[in-house]
Amino acid sequence: MKRLLLANLPTPIQQPKRLSDLLGVDLWVKRDDATGGPEGGNKIRKLEYLLADALEQGCDTVITCGGIQSNHARATATLAAALGLKAVLLLRESSVENDGEGVGVEPAPDQLVGNLLLDLMVGADVRLISPASYLRRGEVMRDAADLLRADGAKPYVIPEGGSNGLGALGYVEAMAEVARQLDAGVAGGRPFDVIVHACGSGGTAAGAALGASHYGVAGELQAMAVCNDVDYFERKIGTIIEESRSLMPELGAPASWTVDESAKGPAYGVSTPLQRARMIEAAQWSGLVFDPVYTGKAFFGLWEQCESGRFDGKRVLFIHTGGLPGLLAQASTMSAHF
Ligand SMILES: Cc1ncc(COP(=O)(O)O)c(C=O)c1O
Repeated sequence: MKRLLLANLPTPIQQPKRLSDLLGVDLWVKRDDATGGPEGGNKIRKLEYLLADALEQGCDTVITCGGIQSNHARATATLAAALGLKAVLLLRESSVENDGEGVGVEPAPDQLVGNLLLDLMVGADVRLISPASYLRRGEVMRDAADLLRADGAKPYVIPEGGSNGLGALGYVEAMAEVARQLDAGVAGGRPFDVIVHACGSGGTAAGAALGASHYGVAGELQAMAVCNDVDYFERKIGTIIEESRSLMPELGAPASWTVDESAKGPAYGVSTPLQRARMIEAAQWSGLVFDPVYTGKAFFGLWEQCESGRFDGKRVLFIHTGGLPGLLAQASTMSAHF
C-alpha cells in the first residue's frame, strides 16, 4: 500500500509516573499528540495513506468534512498545503440554518479560533454547513466534488475523520511501531493488557484493534466514544475492520475490542465540569494536556475505571491522539475552573 512519510515517528511511549501512581495502575501513554506541529495528532497517520492515494490518482484537491473545530479537517488542510493540494472543508456549525443546500457559508471573524483559525492560516477553502446538511455529508461532499470537476479540478473525497479501510491502516502501522518499541525494550518490553483511546469516527479503533493483535501489542482495546453511541460505533468499526482486511488480507482477527460511551458527556464537544476538573488535575500531575472534546473525555473514562478497579493489575496504554487546538477554542469554558 502506498504511504507518504509525513509524521514524526516513532512517537514516544512514556510513563507519567506521578499520574500512574495516583491512579494506581501501570499506565503508559503513546504520544501521538507529538506526530507533528499544526498537522499533528492521530489523523496524520491515516492521511499518510489517504493522501498517497489522492496523489497516485493525480488529484489536485482534497475535500473533507467534520465539526467546525475538526482536528481531522485541520490536519488535512495543513498537509494539503505542504503537498501543494487545494483543501475544501465542509464543516458543521449549529448556528448555520441556510447553507444553500450544503454549498456552505463563510465563517464569521469571531469564529476564527483553534482549528478553524489554523484552517484559514494554511489557505483552506472553508464552508460552514448546517447540521441538517451534515447528516447527508456523503452526498454534500460528492456534490462539491462534481462542481470542482466541472471547473476542471481533480478532487479526492476523504470521509469524516479519514475513517475508512485505507485510512485505518495508519493505526495498523502504529501498532507495528509499538511492537518495534517493545522489542527495543521500551515500557519494559512487555505487551500491554489494554489500549484505551478516544473514538470519534472509528478509524483509530479499527486500525489499532487489527494491528494490536497482528503485532502482539495488546489483547484488548477499549474505544471511548465521544459522540453517537455503542451501536453506531460497533457497526462503523466493524465495517472499517472488514475494509482494512480486504486491503491487507494478511491481517487476522482484531484484538478483542469494546466501545464504551460512559464518558461521552452531554454532547459532542460539550464536557461536564467534573471532566474538565479531571483534565486539569491530570495536566498538573503529569504535564499531559488533554482537550475537552476527545482526549479529555477518554482519559476521564479511564480514570473512572481505574477507580472502579477495572484496570487493577493491568498494563494500560493510553493513546494521546492530540487535539490541543480544540482546547484553545474552549478557553472561555475552561476559564471558569481557574
Ligand atoms: C484529538 C482526536 N482524538 C481522537 C479522535 C478520534 O479518532 P477516530 O476519528 O479515528 O475515532 C479524533 C477525531 O475524531 C481527534 O481529533
